[in-house]
Amino acid sequence: MGNLTLAIIKPDAVRQNVIGEIISMITAAGFKIKAMKMINLSRESAMGFYEVHKERPFYGELVDFMTSGPCVPIMLEKENAVEDYRKLIGATDPAQAEEGTVRKRFAKSKAENCVHGSDSDENALIEIAHFFSRDERLTNYGL
Ligand code: CMP
Repeated sequence: MGNLTLAIIKPDAVRQNVIGEIISMITAAGFKIKAMKMINLSRESAMGFYEVHKERPFYGELVDFMTSGPCVPIMLEKENAVEDYRKLIGATDPAQAEEGTVRKRFAKSKAENCVHGSDSDENALIEIAHFFSRDERLTNYGL
């Protein structure tokens, strides 16, 4: 069981001006922020980040959306981080998300779903390294 995950507050949530509300939900659930920044993702970076989805029909739309405005990647620490954070944000499709989850509160659709969360401990480390250099991380998990 790992203790790190990568969250992204996506452009739709930044446009709704709810960065603060989402961070409050994350910290109230017991996560510690270990790195954070607001960036305009380049197309190259977004395409690399979502490379696992490159054969999916929504890949182009996903890259367009993730580069449509600023987003906020956040490195989070908590025991059982990946699973607990995915519970907090709710299902990918907000129509299926449980009451009280971030996506139930703020997401409009499956494509514009407010937040990202790593899906495994292994991917969490890869995704954290995608956004944060060693100097930007407060926890360096041996790298
Ligand atoms: P995320 O968990 O960040 O990682 C993959 C993303 O692809 C997902 O969130 C959604 O934003 C997006 N996605 C997944 N399924 C669909 C879909 N059917 N149509 C459009 N976007 C999707």
